Amino acid sequence: MFKLPALEKMTREQRYDYMILSLKNQIEIEQDELAVLANSAALLEVFLERINWAGYYLLKDGMLVLGPFQGLPACTRIEMGKGIVGKCAENKESILVPDVYAFEGHIFCDANSRSEICIPIFQGEQLYGILDIDSPEEDRFDDIDEKYLKKFIKILEDNLLDLK
Ligand code: SME
Repeated sequence: MFKLPALEKMTREQRYDYMILSLKNQIEIEQDELAVLANSAALLEVFLERINWAGYYLLKDGMLVLGPFQGLPACTRIEMGKGIVGKCAENKESILVPDVYAFEGHIFCDANSRSEICIPIFQGEQLYGILDIDSPEEDRFDDIDEKYLKKFIKILEDNLLDLK
């Protein structure tokens, strides 16, 4: 069973370290891809502060399709190159958007979102999907978030081939 630590006593870095360790533990006990992605979205929801949406868009037949997430129901399909998610997929690079209103072509899924971060996920050389996190606060994400979220995604990437 997952044991929730005393989050209020932890620094942001400690929260991220604990979240990453929890994902490793999840993968040790479960190898079903959907189950791991679902619980990883729940970990993001538990450990990240000031967010309103966290989850995945998975690349299927050239389209980014909604995967496991936490938050309000969201757009189910995003075309390559469209919105922040589609741009991240097209460029295969992380994107930090301090103000979603200033991002041309931003796709509004949750009216409360003000800033957003997207990290690409690879299976070998191939793009597998995008991790997308929204915050109701402007300029919520910085390079520390990016660094730790990339570590989190690397755990998934290192294990994707072994997941079923
Ligand atoms: N805002 C994203 C769409 C996905 S939601 O935020 C969950 C975008 O512009 O691609």
